[in-house]
Amino acid sequence: MKQQLEKIRQEALAAMEAAADPQELEALRVRYLGKKGELTAVLKQMGKLSAEERPVMGQIANNVRAAIEQTLEQAKTHLAAKAMEAKLRAEAVDVTIPGKEVSLGHQHPMNMVLQEIKGIFVGMGYQVVDGPEVELASYNFTRLNIEEGHPSRDRSDTFYFNDDDSVLLRTQTSPMQIRFMENHKPPLCMLAPGRVFRKDEADATHSPMFHQIEGLVVDEHITMGDLKGALTTLMKRIYGEDSVMRFRPHHFPFTEPSCEMDMQCHKCHGTGEVDGQVCSTCHGEGWIELLGAGMVHPYVLENCGIDPEKYSGFAFGMGLERMAMGRLRINDLRLIFDNDVRFLNQF
Ligand code: PHE
Repeated sequence: MKQQLEKIRQEALAAMEAAADPQELEALRVRYLGKKGELTAVLKQMGKLSAEERPVMGQIANNVRAAIEQTLEQAKTHLAAKAMEAKLRAEAVDVTIPGKEVSLGHQHPMNMVLQEIKGIFVGMGYQVVDGPEVELASYNFTRLNIEEGHPSRDRSDTFYFNDDDSVLLRTQTSPMQIRFMENHKPPLCMLAPGRVFRKDEADATHSPMFHQIEGLVVDEHITMGDLKGALTTLMKRIYGEDSVMRFRPHHFPFTEPSCEMDMQCHKCHGTGEVDGQVCSTCHGEGWIELLGAGMVHPYVLENCGIDPEKYSGFAFGMGLERMAMGRLRINDLRLIFDNDVRFLNQF
């Protein structure tokens, strides 16, 4: 019996030390220490021993059990440590792998041109201001000398909010002239970019929402020469020193005299033809319309409490999309609003 116990001890210890995983270890525990296990089987034979032998064998058997239990615990701990180590290795993070690059966007092409224009005017001393898109008809029309019944106030052109046509989406940035002169006394020099709204179908050159940049300068002795100087400076900076400009008489109710400013077509150089074909950029005109402008009408100055005998001023309003299209050679207005990244990435 002593040999039997010794054999169990040796086999059990060797097997447990070699066990590869906790399942195998558990099977070994059942095999040696379980109710039907090998050690238990030997102990069951104790009854056959003599009274002298029994305590001696009992002692040996207890030692074997203790040795097996101890080795079992050690093996468990060892396997757990090994499992943890393997897990850590598998989940290790390689901090030397380069990170995922964050792709930064950039300004929208229209904003690029807006910033460029603002920069030029700020350099000439203009203050940039903001105003409401929901506007009163009195600011958008009446105080700009656009009387009731004037065709530009028509419901087919303007988005009105109410039945008496007193509140609307501004159709131009010119109401900012009134708003600014209400709160500032001359000398004044302001630039007001913003959205405007008209009931237009969208096509290559029209959109029901677009952007204008309004400008206003009022002081003593301001003349048409100042207007021409400021706007020529802007256009040469935007389109190049060699670009050719012209001022053409026009009519606006809130300026007198009024004009429009055109740039000679850069494609056909004013001839209206390219290789015997009608120029596609200016549609054969030879000129591209840039903006409307003029000397602030005396009525408008009076409407804002400014004495037209003492002060004079000029104002202008240009389409930002049109400026961006010319500056960046974009041929369809809708591209500016679609925000297709294949288009945006070109700038
Ligand atoms: N508001 C005019 C337009 O929308 C442009 C303009 C502004 C003309 C200022 C003269 C002076 O067409």
